[in-house]
Amino acid sequence: MQKVVGKKPLRLDKVLAHMGFGTRQEVKKLIKGELVKVNGEPVRDPGLHVRPGRDRIEVSGKPLEYREHIYLMMYKPRGVLSATEDRSAKVVLDLISPQYRAFRPFPVGRLDKDTEGLLLLTNDGQLAHGLLSPRRHVAKTYYAVVRGTVTESDVEAFAHGVVLDDGYRTLPASLKILRSGPESEVELVVYEGKYHQVKRMFQALGKEVTYLKRIAMGPLVLDEALKPGGYRELTPEEIGRLRQ
Ligand code: URA
Repeated sequence: MQKVVGKKPLRLDKVLAHMGFGTRQEVKKLIKGELVKVNGEPVRDPGLHVRPGRDRIEVSGKPLEYREHIYLMMYKPRGVLSATEDRSAKVVLDLISPQYRAFRPFPVGRLDKDTEGLLLLTNDGQLAHGLLSPRRHVAKTYYAVVRGTVTESDVEAFAHGVVLDDGYRTLPASLKILRSGPESEVELVVYEGKYHQVKRMFQALGKEVTYLKRIAMGPLVLDEALKPGGYRELTPEEIGRLRQ
């Protein structure tokens, strides 16, 4: 778990709500009930300013490990939207526990509803911005099943960039044929994130993607131990590599 040393004083109720101890009202009750100690002293003032990471905060006798950001790797299943909320459809935020939802994470980029695989969720806007910036050209690796025979000329087309239905020529991308036939299997790497990019690249070559799974994003590789719908926190090493 990543520990963050707080720089500026924050209201105690805000800190506890951020850490998933409930709404501001629920947290106030907790504090009034003298279940919270700061530097060994019970406190009753929800508005007390504390320096998380420097002041020792305990809740019901357990020390609080404050952190500002969380980073989750999810195996997004098919049929779930890469969104924080939706009026009718299930969204990826519905899959994570309230403990993590309290941090208000959001998906870094989108996968289509019928695409599965690696999705990063975080509340670190700066990191997300860096990963999504079109100037960064972060690599995204996919495994795909394609209706149609994928050939070496498709590999060349990907390498030159493919002209999509709206006239946009994609950046050069790499395509590896794993199995070629009436139904082909491929692995590909693209360096941008246009709407339905992979499906439209194959469509431009007269083929149809019937299954799509993201297996990596930059240095982050989908953990094989995760099942669809599963997630875990990133390790400090993974966070470090993403920041580079
Ligand atoms: N390209 C697509 O077509 N769909 C995705 O979900 C991701 C990349």
